[in-house]
Formats: sequence, structure tokens, C-alpha cells
Amino acid sequence: MFADRVLSGVRPTGSLHLGHYHGVLKNWIKLQQQYECLFFVADWHALTTHYDTPEIIERNVWDMVIDWLAAGVDPAQAILFIQSKVPAHAELYLLLSMMTPLGWLERVPTYKDQQEKLSEKDLSTYGFLGYPLLQSADILIYRANRVPVGEDQAPHLEFTREIARRFNHIYGKEPGFEEKAEAAIKKLGSKKSKLYAELRTLYQEQGDEDALEKARSLLNEQQNLSLGDRERLFGYLEGGGKMILTEPETLLTEASRMPGLDGQKMSKSYNNTISLREDPESIRKKVRTMPTDPARIRRSDPGDPGKCPVWQFHLVYSDDTTRDWVQKGCKSAGIGCLDCKTPIIEKILEEQAPMIERIKQYEEDPTLVRNIIADGCEKANKLAEETMRDIREAMGLNYS
Ligand code: TRP
Ligand code: SF4
Repeated sequence: MFADRVLSGVRPTGSLHLGHYHGVLKNWIKLQQQYECLFFVADWHALTTHYDTPEIIERNVWDMVIDWLAAGVDPAQAILFIQSKVPAHAELYLLLSMMTPLGWLERVPTYKDQQEKLSEKDLSTYGFLGYPLLQSADILIYRANRVPVGEDQAPHLEFTREIARRFNHIYGKEPGFEEKAEAAIKKLGSKKSKLYAELRTLYQEQGDEDALEKARSLLNEQQNLSLGDRERLFGYLEGGGKMILTEPETLLTEASRMPGLDGQKMSKSYNNTISLREDPESIRKKVRTMPTDPARIRRSDPGDPGKCPVWQFHLVYSDDTTRDWVQKGCKSAGIGCLDCKTPIIEKILEEQAPMIERIKQYEEDPTLVRNIIADGCEKANKLAEETMRDIREAMGLNYS
């Protein structure tokens, strides 16, 4: 419903590394040019697992926003905010909790998985069980229809769609819905009413998805419909009541092509990361000590880049000429592994230098980031309030 809107959040539980940069941030930078985007720091979500170490969250919130900005996330194109500064997320979370079956939460696979994986923490808490519902509130409160996340988050998106459907089913009914919907059709003007009615019939009688898409874009182009009529007409298309909440789609973020130093996924818990702010000396050392093809015990032993994590780095950082040089040199033992790693070190440093420069500027003047976030929070609060008004009304809380 409405225009395309993208939303994503990151938990401030650690500093950003090159895996985040190549996986998440570069994707956001592309999306911000195409869509209305909201990116936020999920500090409440961080508390669900780090409730006993708030200092970690506090330290990482601002650093994370600075890293986003340094990487090229642009506050002129995207709305950047902090979850806890938009209290309506909590209000919606509470309201949704009223109609969320407990079993749905218990069955989200990440619930048990994470409890087992983070066994050193006691995660048998109410807050942790509610993690996916808080995420649903984050998404639904902006009627975001596209959510860029990694594969691990797919169950949370599916859960969110089910919550939206259930909400619309329970609260989208109103007395005289059909009459009101028919009246709303008339307001489209004679030509468009006719088209809407035809497309609706095509969809409902023949399941024509194309017709559904066309009818939706017809509605999206209507500037002068009231919000209520809009919800009615979107709902009427598919047969039900009002569509108050929008079901989001997952925009799958491709797994970063950038592995960790040991060839596994780059992740803080594997201790194989290069942080965005890593000291250059430490970058050199980490790359120089990266494991290579175990067959190359001596400099004179030939190797196979296919069995070497350094080659994965060349796939991210090197041009064809360099890759050619690696392939030939490795297989013929013409180059040593340290030779092979040198261009990578240079590329990482080159990529990092402008980011470090921008980080320095933001750190020298903390008001810059504070202002960007204050502005983003204000915009987010406004957008959230638009949806909350409809939700409160639907739930009978519209006292004045
Ligand atoms: N759960 C997400 C993660 O761990 C973070 C998150 C919180 C999020 N709220 C969100 C992502 C809303 C997308 C949309 O990565
Ligand atoms: Fe890996 Fe390069 Fe050494 Fe070959 S030469 S094993 S690709 S580091």
C-alpha cells in the first residue's frame, strides 16, 4: 500500500566491520537513491540480549551512526533515527501484543536457536520472546513494504506478515464496509472507478495477479483519496475489510561476498573481523597472518586459490589483471603468499582512508551527528504518528 518504503535496523551490540560494509551498508547506499528509506539503530532490540550490559549499547549507538555516515549513508536521502527516540514503536508493540498468540512467538525458529547459541546468557525473558513482535512494530508502524535483511531474518518477516494479516482481519471490519467502499470507488471519477471495478473483478474471479498489481498502482496514484477510503479500497480489492497495516516484503540482502579472515562468515563471534575503524598496522598484521592454502607449506609448493580465503578477498578487491597474476603465481609457486596479500592490504587501506577521514570530522564535532539524528527522529515520529492514529482508531482508543 502507498508508495514503496524501505526500512531496516541494526542492533548496536558491537562495532561495524568490513562484512557489514560490503553486505549491509553498500546495499543501503544503493537503496537510498531508489526509495524512501528509513534506517535506525535498534537499541531496544539490543537490550533484549544485552540487558545486563547497557554500557555496550550506549557506546555503540553513536559510533554506529558515525560509521553509517562515513560509509556513505546520506541523511539528505534517508531518514536516520534511534528506535528508543520514537516511543510509538513501544506503543504499537504493546497494542499488537494483545492479539499475538503466544504460540506464534514460541514457534519463531530464532527463539530457540538463539537461546541455545547464546547459552551463557539467560534469555528466558519476556522481552526476548517478544523480539520478533517488536521488530514487527518497527516495520508496520511505517507501513514499510520493503525490508532489506539477511536470510537469518526471514522468519521475522514472515511473522510480521502474519501479524499484519491478523490485525487487518480483526480490526479492518467496520459496519457498512461494502457501502463505504462502493462510495469510495465513485470518488475516483467515472473512468477510474470503472477501471478499478474491472480490475477487481478480474482479480477476484480469475485470480489475475496482474490486475491486482494494476489496481494497486491505480490507487497509489490517487492523490486526493482520504486515508480511510484508501484503506477501504485496498482492502476491498482483495475481498476483506480495510487494510490498515501493510504486509512487508523481504528484500534479501545478498550474503556479503566478503568472508572473514579465516574464510568463514565475517562475524564478531568468530573473531575473524576487520573493523571499519581498524588501525592500519593491525590491518596489515591481520591480513599477513591470514591462513592460506594449507598445501603451500614452503614457498616453493604450488597452491590452489580455490582453497584459500585470501582469494575470496581478491574477488572483492582486485581487478582481472591482479586476479590473473594470483592464479598463475599461486599455481606455479611463482609468487609467495605475502606477495599475494600485499595488493589486498593496499586496497583495504585505500577503501578505509576516506571513511576514517569522515569519522574524524564527525568525532571532532559531535553536534553534527546529534543534529542529524534529532532531525531523523522528528521525521520518524511524524510518520509513525500517521499510522498510530489509524491503529488507535481501529482498536477503539480514539478518545478526544
Ligand atoms: N532483528 C534485526 C537483526 O538482528 C534488527 C532489526 C530490528 C530490524 N528491527 C528491525 C531489521 C526492523 C529490519 C527491520 O538484524
Ligand atoms: Fe592463497 Fe595467494 Fe598464497 Fe595462493 S598465493 S595460497 S591464493 S595467499
